[in-house]
Parts: sequence; C-alpha cells; structure tokens
Amino acid sequence: MEKRRFEYELNFQEILKNPVRLFGWVFPIFIMILLAVGVRYYMNVGTMGVKHQPPVNDSLFAFQDVAIKRGGVIPPVDLKLVKEPTQELIDKGRELYDANCSSCHGAQGNGDGAAGTNLEPAPRNFSDKEGWTNGRKFVDMYKTLEEGIIQNGMAAYEYLKPEDRVAIIHYTRTFDEFPEVTDEEILLELDATYGLSKERVESNQIPVKLAIKKVVKEFDEEFDQTAKSFWENSKSETGAQLISENAHDPVKVLKTFFYSGISSDQSEFIETISLAPNSLGFRSTVLRLSEAEWSALYDYLTRVANLRG
Ligand code: HEC
Repeated sequence: MEKRRFEYELNFQEILKNPVRLFGWVFPIFIMILLAVGVRYYMNVGTMGVKHQPPVNDSLFAFQDVAIKRGGVIPPVDLKLVKEPTQELIDKGRELYDANCSSCHGAQGNGDGAAGTNLEPAPRNFSDKEGWTNGRKFVDMYKTLEEGIIQNGMAAYEYLKPEDRVAIIHYTRTFDEFPEVTDEEILLELDATYGLSKERVESNQIPVKLAIKKVVKEFDEEFDQTAKSFWENSKSETGAQLISENAHDPVKVLKTFFYSGISSDQSEFIETISLAPNSLGFRSTVLRLSEAEWSALYDYLTRVANLRG
C-alpha cells in the first residue's frame, strides 16, 4: 500500500505561484470580520449618530429655596464696642472665626485653610496688607461680611447678627496691625450705612415650597367653609342637579369656578366647558345640555364663583 503522502494544508509554494488562491483561505475570516462589524453597527445604530453633549445646568433646578427663619428683634450694637472691644467680645469673635472662617482663612489668618486651597484668588491672608478688594478699614470688612465677594468665593455672612460680625472683625484684626477705627468712620460710614445702633425687626421667613403648601391649604379651608357647604345645602337646585348628573368629579367643577372665577359672558362659559369638559371635571354628556340647562348651570356656578370674597 502506498503510504499516503503527507500534504500541508497550505502549500505555500503553490500559493506563491498563484497568489489569488490565498484569497480563498482568507475569505471566511474576512466574512467573519465583516459580520462582527455589522452586528456591532446594528446594535448601536440608535446611538451612533448622537453626539455626546455635556449636561446643561438648568437654572430651574438650581433654584435654592430660602431657609426657614424665625424673625424677631435684632438688638442694637453698642457703638462703643466697635471702637474699643472688650476682651469678652474678642473671645466671642475667636469662637465665631474658628467655626465660620478658619476653614478658608486658616486658624492664624494666613489664608491657608484647607477649604481654600483651590480658590482663585486665595482666601485673604490677614497679615498681608496688599491687594484687598474692599479694603482693610473696619467698615470695609463689615461690607465684606454683609455682601460677600461672591465672584471671588468669599461668601456673605449677613445672617450673622451685627454684634457677632463686629466680634469676628475685631478678632481678625488681632492677626496684624489694622487702621484705627475713628468716630467719624463709625458714625458717618458704618452706622449710616448699616444702621448698627438701631434695633431691627425681622419678619419670619419660610421656604417658598412650604408657603405654597400653606396657601393651598388655606384655599382648601376656604373652599370647604363656603363653596362645599353651599353645594351640600343646595343639592335640590337644578344647577346642582345638572352637576351631579353631568360631572365625574363635582368637587373639581366647583373648585375650578370657585378659584378661577367665571366668565361674565354665558356663551364664553359654554365654550370653555365644551372645549375640555373632562379636564374641568365634567362628563361629555354636558355637551348635550339644552339652552335652558346651560343657563341654570351658568347661574349656579356664578353663585359659587361669587362666594369668594
Ligand atoms: C469658602 C472660603 C471662605 C470662607 C469660609 C470665608 N472666606 Fe473670607 N475670603 C475668601 C476668599 C477667597 C477671599 C478673597 C476675596 C478677594 O480677594 O476678593 C476672602 C476675603 C476675605 C476678606 C478680605 C476682603 C477684601 O477686601 O479683600 C475678609 C475681610 C474676609 N474674607 C473675612 C472673612 C470672614 C470674617 C469669614 C468668616 C465669617 C470668612 N471670610 C470666611 C474665602 C472665604
């Protein structure tokens, strides 16, 4: 038996003589690559053409509600303390400084607090007399605390009591030599601008969200006390009966006209209801009312609308 000649599957000598044959070997691989690319394209076809854009900061969502704050009488500042602080005041200033300011300005006032490392300009080094934005006078520093230097990362501290701000400023002034405080500055600049020596009355403040809730609650109470009882005591009237028969949500019908009022023109009233009966609480059967029934309904709802003072 003739021994079978061992043959290489790929005969390179052959291929070199006839390179087109190489294509036959590569072809299945070629098809597989094409297929893989195709599948990948197909899976991503929905997002391929979509550009990735950085998220937009919508100012609507950046809205910050005001804090809840109890109003009250803010005691006047003894102007003598502005000129000559007591040790007690300076100690209080240190406490407040450590709690509110040292994170940026550093415990020694060198502007090297951990929270300020990324700020540009850097937090003020109180020992450096150069380049102050508002200035180093007492009244300038008071202004800085009142208004902040927002664009440079220095927040406003207007929520601190005036006397506390005076205390903090006096403490920061212990870090270095500062311009002396004169009577003129106190009276003509500080007190004239910020009214430190006057008692101030601040009203209570609540967040807008809470205020809306309260208003809605008040509206609902008003509705319950007037329109709802009117409705319950007048159910035998034609207008009320028409609402019972033609509304899927009678209370909604009543509330709509109680809150929003009613057109002084009956045909306009009919038109409004006919345009969107369901969203106003009616069923579409309301569209089949006779002329007289529309009038009865209009009269009844006009009385509901007039219940609001
Ligand atoms: C979040 C960091 C931060 C905190 C907290 C902070 N500051 Fe500042 N402060 C700054 C930065 C930044 C500047 C520099 C602003 C500039 O040069 O315009 C600055 C500047 C100042 C200045 C100099 C203003 C001027 O005229 O150049 C004063 C005074 C000051 N701060 C006081 C305070 C006091 C007092 C507190 C605490 C009640 C406080 N800061 C808390 C960041 C901060």
